[in-house]
Amino acid sequence: MDHFLYRDGALFAEDVPVAEIAATVGTPFYLYSTATLLRHFTLFDEALNGLPHLVCYAMKAASNQAILKTLAQAGAGMDVVSGGEYARARAAGVPGERIVFSGVGKTHEEIRTALTGGIRQFNVESEPEMAVISEVASALGVEAPITIRVNPDVDARTHAKIATGKSENKFGIPISRAREVYAHAASLPGLKVVGIDVHIGSQLTELEPFRLAYRKVAELTETLRADGHDIERLDLGGGLGIPYTRSNEAPPLPVEYGALIKETVGHLGCEVEIEPGRLIAGNAGILVSKVIYVKQGEDRQFLILDGAMNDLIRPAMYDAWHDIVPVIEPEAGVEQTAYDIVGPVCESGDTFARGRMMAPLVPGALVAFRSAGAYGAVMASEYNTRPLIPEVLVRDDKFAVIRARPTFDEMINRDTIPEWL
Ligand code: LLP
Repeated sequence: MDHFLYRDGALFAEDVPVAEIAATVGTPFYLYSTATLLRHFTLFDEALNGLPHLVCYAMKAASNQAILKTLAQAGAGMDVVSGGEYARARAAGVPGERIVFSGVGKTHEEIRTALTGGIRQFNVESEPEMAVISEVASALGVEAPITIRVNPDVDARTHAKIATGKSENKFGIPISRAREVYAHAASLPGLKVVGIDVHIGSQLTELEPFRLAYRKVAELTETLRADGHDIERLDLGGGLGIPYTRSNEAPPLPVEYGALIKETVGHLGCEVEIEPGRLIAGNAGILVSKVIYVKQGEDRQFLILDGAMNDLIRPAMYDAWHDIVPVIEPEAGVEQTAYDIVGPVCESGDTFARGRMMAPLVPGALVAFRSAGAYGAVMASEYNTRPLIPEVLVRDDKFAVIRARPTFDEMINRDTIPEWL
């Protein structure tokens, strides 16, 4: 459920007409709903009721400071994957003890920053990384809390580009080598093993892969405890999918996912962490764009929008489907027409949808891409020197620009000219 609904024939974000924001901010822009963000965070938090837990929002999904602050104030922890994300989380007021640090390529500098600034745990992805954390922590005279990310070799049954839990993926250490690697960790100075980490992929639409992975983690917990390790925390990753189309079978609900967690690892007495990104931010955001032209091709009609692949890369990159809806609700019964919906970028890949059936649209009409809150703005680029588009946050009947559109001068002046030119 989200808070982008038609009221009296016009699309609203909570209590604000989307068209009113478009008139103030200009198109294209991303628009987020506070109520939806909070609702989704709370669903996860409540799903884990009864277990000691922390929901660490995977901020790679949408990392605007206002979004982070909204979630942090509700009690969320953060899953960060870079020094930049760590800095963003801290700037949004998230204390170090609520930040977990994931990612396969943490640098010396990032590790040092997190150890000095405060960190709940590093999710270690390899032995070379473990050695560096040990070295940096020892030099600082501190102990680094770590979990080790195991790769359970489970098929997440999602798009290949976002599956991470198979042995051919670059993530984690093979679960078959876990005992050896934990023994190694225990022998290194400056490390405090606190638990196990796993994450098998994103946009999972069934529970079964999670069940397989979490069972393996439960078994490993018992083995490692018998080996003498202090396994007190399990980070179970993110990945629960969202419905991108209303016709699709809906993925499992957070409450069902929570029940599965309790069933598979609840008996171990561990504190549980999860790292959802998409489910918190995805349906809490839309991309609003304007029709520039309707162009008749030889055998099809193109709807040319002012938004493009540089603003929302998901259709080009993952063949992702986003519902595209008119901001002014079409009259009931109006005959639909098929459009190829494209942006102005000079690539055929700049195609959002082919043969999409919609009520007829005219230049100037506004459309909204639904489910664009996660992996939307954060994956945008300035390709074709198109400015990064604004982000706007709604709360009840108020809205605020939370990132302004840069001017061309601002973009140009980021470049510097060498003295020989
Ligand atoms: N934890 C780790 C270690 C991750 O790598 C990810 C996502 C998450 C948590 C959050 O997963 P989520 O709950 O959002 O599924 N750009 C792609 C998705 C990439 C996901 C990368 N890792 C897309 O647009 O579909």
